[in-house]
Amino acid sequence: MGLFTVILAAGLGTRMKSATPKVLHTINGKAIIRHVVDAVTALNPDKIVVVVSPGSSMIQDALKDKRITFAIQREPKGTADALRAAAQKLAGKKGTVLVLSGDTPLVNTSTLQRLITTHKRKKEVLSILSFTVEGDHAYGRIVRDGQSVAAIIEAGDAAQGLQQIKEVNSGIYVMESSALKLLREIEINPLKGEYYLTDIVSIAVRNGFRVGSHVLGDETELTGINTRRDLCMAGLYLRDRIVSKWLEKGVSFVDMKTVYIDPDVEIDIDTIIYPNVIIEGRSTIGKGCVIYPNTRIVDSTVGNWVTIKDSTIIESSIIKDAASVGPFAHLRPDSVIGASAKIGNFVEIKKSVIGNGAKASHLSYLGDAEIGANVNIGAGTITCNYDGVNKSKTIIEEGCFIGSDTQLVAPVKVGKGAYVGAGSTITKDVPPLALAVSRAPQRNFDGWAAGRACKKNSKSSKG
Ligand code: UD1
Ligand code: CA
Repeated sequence: MGLFTVILAAGLGTRMKSATPKVLHTINGKAIIRHVVDAVTALNPDKIVVVVSPGSSMIQDALKDKRITFAIQREPKGTADALRAAAQKLAGKKGTVLVLSGDTPLVNTSTLQRLITTHKRKKEVLSILSFTVEGDHAYGRIVRDGQSVAAIIEAGDAAQGLQQIKEVNSGIYVMESSALKLLREIEINPLKGEYYLTDIVSIAVRNGFRVGSHVLGDETELTGINTRRDLCMAGLYLRDRIVSKWLEKGVSFVDMKTVYIDPDVEIDIDTIIYPNVIIEGRSTIGKGCVIYPNTRIVDSTVGNWVTIKDSTIIESSIIKDAASVGPFAHLRPDSVIGASAKIGNFVEIKKSVIGNGAKASHLSYLGDAEIGANVNIGAGTITCNYDGVNKSKTIIEEGCFIGSDTQLVAPVKVGKGAYVGAGSTITKDVPPLALAVSRAPQRNFDGWAAGRACKKNSKSSKG
């Protein structure tokens, strides 16, 4: 007997007030629908059907790397109608069907697995995943007759007494494929003009099917995204979940409430993360690192014992062991910082390789450069890599010393162990072990300023 999953994602999502389909809004850098697809993929189902509206190529594009069957719901006529569209793609299949809303992104695979296990153990035909909430909310209420489930009543339809019910519908169900035929019996809800999937519950009960509702998760996991506020809350729940996971695995946070880490990031033990740090995409941080405040790291690999000082931005780059970057540094894509290298205050690096132990401690721009091991880049050094048409390379070989305020006009190469005097504009290759200086010789005019001071005084006394 197979396991089939259906994700309903054809709703209008009007409460988001957005030009983007609701399920494509992102939480921690990942579209809502991808969170759901990833949670069910881990169950290894025979088929994943996603129900979308006719003009939804954006959703299909966003999932094109996944193995998914799309079902089209012609008009947004409610959740029951959406499941009917999916049922056509399951025609002739026998087994268990897991139905989820495309807007419930934080559900854990383990919770889904527990629902399936409970469903089978209790031999139910229809099982509802429920949770309890306090206060005002718009979830469907689970109405019980004694112990047994009798119906789900939608928030808008609930009479006064029913409004108080705390057990609510997560919009996630497990049913036997035999229950899908009950969808035909669902009538249109006069208030909203939609076919409510939730009506399947009372119909199943009436038909003598075993129906159960199981509190297997809480609001932090089963929150449904209808509004921007829900989206923000879900982001905060997920943030807490991710940070808690890293705390357990041996990572320290000075203030866990101000740190944002994407779901696919990896961090090794004994790393300390200060407030306002954002680590995104497929980033990996080694062990024993210190990441100081206000730093953003995107799609980058950071080795062991690396220090990243305050207010630094690192994009698609690699930082090797024991290097130090920042404060106020910007590593732009395709930069590699060697082991024990130091990239200091206000240094911008683009598509460059910085050798082991090399230093650029202050106010530099190094673009399209290859900097050898143990090179010292003086303050204010700039690689002039762009002539308005082409980008060219600067090569500085091992052990060179580049004096402060040097411009290296690429393409240009400074040979191994060479020195460049401060304030030089280097336009020609420098041979190994040479000293290159290109500044104009200094001239001193003795007494020049004293003469000028005399003139100034006589002028002001006239005034
Ligand atoms: C639904 C449930 C409610 C539950 C809540 C949990 C119904 C009638 N109500 O309410 O009991 O507490 O989820 O979050 O089912 N969709 C379609 N086609 C449609 C309408 C909706 O595919 O015509 C999809 C939406 O894209 C969404 C999901 O179904 O992913 C749920 O629809 P939504 O309108 O958000 O339902 P809720 O009002 O949240
Ligand atoms: Ca919803």
